[in-house]
Amino acid sequence: MQRCSGRHPALWLVGWLVAGCATGEPADSTPGALEVKARRGDDRDDRDDRDDRDDRDDHNHRRPHSRRPPIRSLADAAARTDRLIGTAVDVPFLNGDPVYAATLASEFSYLTPGNETKWGSLQPVDPAHWEFAPADAILSFAHRRHLAAKGHVLIWHSQLPPFVNDGVTRDDLVALVRRNIREVMRRYRHETRAWDVVNEAVADDGTLRDTVFLRTLGPTYIADAFRWAREEDRRAVLYYNDFNIDTVNAKSNAVYELVRGLVAAHVPIDGVGFQMHLEAQTAPSTEEIVANLTRFTDLGLRVNISELDVRIANAGGDLTTRLALQRQVFHRAVAACVQVARCETVTTWGFTDLDSWIDATFGPDDPLELDEQYRRKPAYYGLIDGFMAVPVDPPGTPPNLIANGSFEIGSDGWAASGGRLSTSRRTAHTGERSARVTHRTETSHGAVYDALSVASRDTSHDVSAWVRISGAASDRVTLTATTRCSGGGETVAVLATATATDAAWLPLGGELVTPDCIADEIALGISGPAAGVVLHVDDVALRRREQLGPELVANPGFEVDTAGWFGFGGAALSSTAAQAHSGARSGVATARTATFQGPGLDLLAAGAALGGTYRASAWLRIAGASLSPVAMTLKSTCDGTTTFQRIGITTASDAGWTRLTGSIALPSCAATELVAYFEGPPAGTDIYLDDVSLRRDLSVRSPNLIANANFESGSTSGWFGFGSPALTATTAQAHGGRWSLLATNRTATFMGPGSDIRAVASPGVYQASAWVRLDGAAASPMFMTAKLTCAGAADQFARIGAASATDSGWTLLTGSLTVPSCPLSGLIVYFEGPPAGVNEYIDDVELRR
Ligand code: XIL
Repeated sequence: MQRCSGRHPALWLVGWLVAGCATGEPADSTPGALEVKARRGDDRDDRDDRDDRDDRDDHNHRRPHSRRPPIRSLADAAARTDRLIGTAVDVPFLNGDPVYAATLASEFSYLTPGNETKWGSLQPVDPAHWEFAPADAILSFAHRRHLAAKGHVLIWHSQLPPFVNDGVTRDDLVALVRRNIREVMRRYRHETRAWDVVNEAVADDGTLRDTVFLRTLGPTYIADAFRWAREEDRRAVLYYNDFNIDTVNAKSNAVYELVRGLVAAHVPIDGVGFQMHLEAQTAPSTEEIVANLTRFTDLGLRVNISELDVRIANAGGDLTTRLALQRQVFHRAVAACVQVARCETVTTWGFTDLDSWIDATFGPDDPLELDEQYRRKPAYYGLIDGFMAVPVDPPGTPPNLIANGSFEIGSDGWAASGGRLSTSRRTAHTGERSARVTHRTETSHGAVYDALSVASRDTSHDVSAWVRISGAASDRVTLTATTRCSGGGETVAVLATATATDAAWLPLGGELVTPDCIADEIALGISGPAAGVVLHVDDVALRRREQLGPELVANPGFEVDTAGWFGFGGAALSSTAAQAHSGARSGVATARTATFQGPGLDLLAAGAALGGTYRASAWLRIAGASLSPVAMTLKSTCDGTTTFQRIGITTASDAGWTRLTGSIALPSCAATELVAYFEGPPAGTDIYLDDVSLRRDLSVRSPNLIANANFESGSTSGWFGFGSPALTATTAQAHGGRWSLLATNRTATFMGPGSDIRAVASPGVYQASAWVRLDGAAASPMFMTAKLTCAGAADQFARIGAASATDSGWTLLTGSLTVPSCPLSGLIVYFEGPPAGVNEYIDDVELRR
């Protein structure tokens, strides 16, 4: 019989996965949880599976892993690396939503109760009273469905029972803590392989967090908690768990010193959990995570990613971009864990956007891997790719807008233009699976991806794919894009063509510029070889090409002086020859008496475009501390309200230069202050800065001031009848989609649909466009006009643009609006011009900087 604990971490893990270890049955009589999950896929009717059987019939040179069933779930993918994939679980959902329970059981191999094993949940009223039912429900579910489980959490300052407070004496608190540890660990001994013993004991500045435990028991409470936990359960893995310790920073340094001390004192701690509640735009690279995790495993500890989620609400760009960025971050985090041998589990804090703690804590967001209907988000494929060893994008790479370009879990999102599309493990460019098109009877038959919802209008994209053929030694393969503007004809563009072979994978790449119209179709295709040839495709990417504007930083290298820069918060700033990243000099901030002080740049004076998205890059180094985080921060003041936003962060060192990169969407309000500055190191530390760059990302369009621009909600909201015509949303005509807006009962030429944009407009130039059409006259000029009022002054009327509208089709009206820098008391845009009695249709109205 296999022992339930072994020295080697992987053996230990496998041991615990074997249900026998938890139940006392012989290990070899019961399948391990991971095997159970992998097998479950066998009975599903799945085309990929059938095709893998074809592989077995057709080819004797199968790759070794094709003997295992292909992956069907996150658990299968994690098992490929001998890891567990977990999630936090909520009892109300588990009991109330069968889809939740089924998804949990089919996708995951590990779980953590989200709240139910916290002390405050178990003892919500008084010390005599325990409420085990919710925790029992989760842990018995885990047991029944062969999911391993971790208990969370024994000692934490939050979600405590009401009777654990500063009024309790030291002896009483020790007794209460020990009793909680004893009751809970004993009760769930068979269902939990691990426990978070102490959670969040360290503050962001690296000091011990001021909690009731520190105040009443003193700093030794941490070591004591691990000892008490070990007394109750000899085999559970005992973790310290915390947030904001994912990379090397002041807090993770402090946690490192804390656990190093515990290990040195033979305190029974087994590992550290890194929560990884990340924000997409500032998330660390794989290398940064690996560097941090490795120093902990070098102490002989296990590590795990314990509460992964990735916020995207502030990431900038449209939803497609933000979801693609989120995918990139999930991929990176898992790839980091996979690179660290003793990183044994990855847990996401929930799995559906329906149920995440983020919304209540940080504001509405979509931080998880499945959407609110339990559909796979791009992030899901990021997790899969991480486990399947698909390489991560180098830092700074625009994210892939194709969620499933690697085919590791099938061909979701793809179709065949003829022949049969499947996936195969006979060959793969990366990972273990690729797509293939068999039964091709035309050269045009191939793999097709519908990119309509992810490609942006009038934008340049980089498209790339890896291809290979079988059934011919070599043949031509083409990468095409088929586009069609609404109401127009189809255009097929060849983006790339090359000769593929049956000997090796070949990269294909080209540029796709999407048309400046509302498109009905944007499809990528890979096809070309003669009929009968099998086409293999892998690692397809569609990335928005970054178009960067001119450099905003006039004095990026401090080669002569500090012109354009100042010491933010009172730091002294000078140009120095002591250090330079390039050239002979750099900038240095000295005499820093607070962490927020550092080199600052006035972006208003530099001419930054409000509402624009900027890419930032800078090189940093420090003196006076060996390592410290340095952040680049935006301070903006609009209408008397000041906000601070993180542009980027890095860990600077005194041993060399580090690059900071980031991105920021500037506010589009009339800002009176707009400053970017560098901060973070402790007071007394000098910050060196060189080669700073801030360039506008021209591919990110600024927001449309018109809220209800295409009327697809079927409503007139956001619009009113200027001069009191009647407005209706209608399907009688539409430029894009099904709906447009119709103005009737016009009794004067100036009447038409209007929109009040005073609250959203700020000084500057806006480009306007709208589609217009008439009913009741064959043709007439039509205008878009602004009625603009500076406080205390007379109304001004400005023509934004004009078009010759007709009743036989839609006409594009374009123009521009300049909003003056006066306090605005009114700003309305409206459509006018046709004679009274003529009805106006408008659709797809845009007003952007
Ligand atoms: C969160 C839960 O998900 C929420 O439902 C609850 O309201 C608050 O706590 N770090 C932790 C977790 O260790 O226990 C927290 O869970 C999220 C942050």
